[in-house]
Amino acid sequence: MEIIHVSAECYPVAKAGGLGDVVGALPKYQCQAGHVAKVVMPMYRTKFLANNEWDVDFEGNTNLGDYFFNYTIIKERTNKLGFDLYLVDIFGLLDREKVYGYDDDTERFTAFQIAVVNWMSSWEHKPDVVHCHDHHTGLIPFMMKNCFAYRNLSFVPTVFTIHNGQYQGTMDWSKSKNIPEYDSWKWGDLDWHNSINPLASAVKCAWKVTTVSQSYMNELRYNSNGLEDLFEYERGKCVGILNGIDNDVWNPETDSYLHDNFKLSTVVSGKKKNKEELCKRFGLNPDLPLIVFIGRLVGEKAAEILPDAINSVLYNMNGQVSFLILGSGDPHIEWQLSNMNGNYPGLYHAVIGYDETLSHNMYAGADFLLMPSRVEPCGLNQMYAMRYGTVPMVRSTGGLQDTVVDMGAWEGFGIRFNNATVSDVHYSVSRAVSVYQDKTHFNWMRKHMMQIDHSWESTVEQYLNIYRSLK
Ligand code: ADP
Ligand code: GLC
Repeated sequence: MEIIHVSAECYPVAKAGGLGDVVGALPKYQCQAGHVAKVVMPMYRTKFLANNEWDVDFEGNTNLGDYFFNYTIIKERTNKLGFDLYLVDIFGLLDREKVYGYDDDTERFTAFQIAVVNWMSSWEHKPDVVHCHDHHTGLIPFMMKNCFAYRNLSFVPTVFTIHNGQYQGTMDWSKSKNIPEYDSWKWGDLDWHNSINPLASAVKCAWKVTTVSQSYMNELRYNSNGLEDLFEYERGKCVGILNGIDNDVWNPETDSYLHDNFKLSTVVSGKKKNKEELCKRFGLNPDLPLIVFIGRLVGEKAAEILPDAINSVLYNMNGQVSFLILGSGDPHIEWQLSNMNGNYPGLYHAVIGYDETLSHNMYAGADFLLMPSRVEPCGLNQMYAMRYGTVPMVRSTGGLQDTVVDMGAWEGFGIRFNNATVSDVHYSVSRAVSVYQDKTHFNWMRKHMMQIDHSWESTVEQYLNIYRSLK
């Protein structure tokens, strides 16, 4: 099968979160399973662009409302990522350093999607499926189905994967002029509550909708930022497929970012060395259990409870546990967390920013990874932590619930709690401290987790079955 993935992110080209990891891995494993998977994404001005070789694949032109634009599609020359990678360049819109965060993001991603559809429509052959990811690509199923200029794509199946339903790309109806001319009777396919809603549109128009865990799929019907009724209505075409992780990238035995590599048989000494290095670097006491948080500092991740929760723990359980934080996001949370640096010598440090190398070293050197997320469609951090023998402490929601078994249950290896509150975090920290002291149990949990299979190899088939069902 020929599968075209369309996404705003793809690791290592450009990544803001887990979407990048998934789109950088799933196509590779689809190719390894004997299919032709390709990725098309915007040509941001990233290091990856500068450090690799490219050929021009296509040059076209089209328009975004009144704005006529040329676009160029380049292709990476060496199949470096294990799949064909195409970047779309649109002068003045996509030629930026960051993925998101510009005032004209709506126009940038609308133009990107139009260029992708325009390009595919020019092909002599047609792909077997177009697989779109998140709201930045959510208008594509509508355009392929309803735009006059792209009628030759209307029979190509589309799959839409929701990595995060909180963000929907909503825009005012005045922006409808930017969408290529379509059958006006179909305006309802774009609309949700009197706005154009690309996520809702994709749920209506894609042939199949997936999300990244089964529990999150169920949650969307009760809690999806206003789309609950839509998910209830469309539940027949929605399925949850748990993400995998890329075991080539996330392997403690070969991970080149790590200070010390280790494997199952050397996990205890290997993690100790990585922890000592981390603690030395950030002035932490290596004899205490080390709890880390890695992630976006936003409400979805319940990051705003971290300052109070950590203050409360370090005040009441002084000298029993230490924390290391890596994250960026809400400026107020960033300010609170970094302001705490120095308040608890040997027990606390926060690094504000995005640092891929440090994140790998934290998964390897930590004893516990805290994720109090309010919403977690899948969550990759807890799976990376498990592969690196780090015990996850997670709120029971979405993919966290589907991947972590509480240590109180049969063969349990993690710590789960129900509420994103200071008291629940506090209680889970006290459970962490006591299991850390029981070395036999603690080391059993580490080894048990490391052997759980979350590889893409075992997940890829579920996507292929969905594509097959659409033929
Ligand atoms: P989300 O996509 O919602 O942010 P995931 O758990 O799916 O959450 O994926 C987050 C990914 O981003 C992981 O690969 C994690 O290691 C990485 N990440 C998040 N914040 C940072 C950061 N500040 N520095 C380095 N990596 C980060
Ligand atoms: C989103 C979700 C996260 C998920 C990731 C990859 O960013 O917030 O839970 O793991 O996408 O699917």
